[in-house]
Amino acid sequence: MIYLDNSASTYIKPKEVIKAVMVATSKYTANPGRSGHSLSMLAGEKVYEVREKICGFLNCDKPENVIFTQSCTEALNIAVLGTALKGGHIICSCNDHNSLVRPIFELEKQGLVEVTVVNPQKQELLTANDIEPYIKENTYLIAVNHVSNVNGDMADIHSIGELCAKKCILFLVDCAQSAGHVKIDMQKDHIDMLALAPHKALYSLQGVGVFAFSVRANPKPIKYGGTGTDSLNVYQPKDYPECLESGTLSTPNIIALGAGFSWTTNNFDKINKKIDDLATYLLFELDKIENIITYTSPENVMFGVIAFNIKGADSQEVADILSEKYGICVRAGLHCAGLKHKALNTIETGVVRVSICYYNTYTECETFVNAIKRIATLFLTKNDS
Ligand code: ALA
Repeated sequence: MIYLDNSASTYIKPKEVIKAVMVATSKYTANPGRSGHSLSMLAGEKVYEVREKICGFLNCDKPENVIFTQSCTEALNIAVLGTALKGGHIICSCNDHNSLVRPIFELEKQGLVEVTVVNPQKQELLTANDIEPYIKENTYLIAVNHVSNVNGDMADIHSIGELCAKKCILFLVDCAQSAGHVKIDMQKDHIDMLALAPHKALYSLQGVGVFAFSVRANPKPIKYGGTGTDSLNVYQPKDYPECLESGTLSTPNIIALGAGFSWTTNNFDKINKKIDDLATYLLFELDKIENIITYTSPENVMFGVIAFNIKGADSQEVADILSEKYGICVRAGLHCAGLKHKALNTIETGVVRVSICYYNTYTECETFVNAIKRIATLFLTKNDS
């Protein structure tokens, strides 16, 4: 089996992450922040260590503003719904995943906000120049996907962040696909809120997400319940992080995330050079095949996501042949990102997405290219007849 669906979730995890889960599930299984006994305190300390580590990694204002969620989707929901402003205007982009698009359009459906979706002039890079003409007096939030999960198209978050800071507009970045591949600095890029998907390029597990925010943002909770603090109060306490973390945290998952962060940070150049090399090879080889259209720009290949189609073939049909005949796992279809597919004009067929991680090898990529060459020939014949 060859796994090339790492943008959905990385399949192989570093041994450091696996070890951290094993240690956590045998030593840190008490409930953090709920009881005063030593085992609860120990679990709480471990969770706090990871909070601090992520805060440093992102250059977030303070550890209390790093929130552990169930998923990246939950983090984006807190960002959008927790800062909703009645009568306001939100700008988002065609690169955005439904985890960002849907909470924004839910607010629009409820009549609370108006929304503008921006299509960049150059698909491969969304910049402040693309966004600035759409800013209105009531624009209070600009929300962008840092890197498209469909084809790796990028947003220039530095220029957009500077624009947001100048206009006093909140800036939200979905880093699901970028964290682990590029360094993210909330202060330098004027990011007010961001979301992470640790099970992707941070090589951690499914079941935990991260929401981080600056002192300029003041997100309200979107779920209510026990926080381990202020128990007599029937209303949700106001202090962060507790007010956004109702319910027992996934301690083993958070500890594994700490190990994943350390591993990706310590091996950053090595990991990303390998991904860049393999993805460059793949794009180069796919571009040489006569009846293939690729949708990834060479400038964005470093994220390890390549989208393509075989002319005349539905993307799911190609993915099914890859899986059934060659044992190769990729993701086809619309990737929960309908706006991006509209922009790429691929609504009818979807695209085949191949995504690389550090553990993939040159031989696997070569096998994949050879399989695609054979499948493409089938459709060449079909198209000709
Ligand atoms: N968002 C994930 C993907 O792109 C699940 O496949």
